[in-house]
Amino acid sequence: MKIRVVKEKCAGHARCWAQSPEIYDLDDEGYILDHDIDVPEGQERAAWLGAKSCPERALVIEDY
Ligand code: F3S
Repeated sequence: MKIRVVKEKCAGHARCWAQSPEIYDLDDEGYILDHDIDVPEGQERAAWLGAKSCPERALVIEDY
């Protein structure tokens, strides 16, 4: 499973990180880091919940 990060859409809500800090990293200003995420096995649910929590739909679930 992969999460594609659409950095331009990120508005710094930080809900992804609040939901699943083991998956999502933010920069010093609270925006998602600009790289796609390879989700480790067993953490798909956390990744999914975090992606769904983003109101800007900046986190796109792929290869699932
Ligand atoms: Fe950005 Fe959405 Fe997370 S706006 S900080 S990707 S909740």
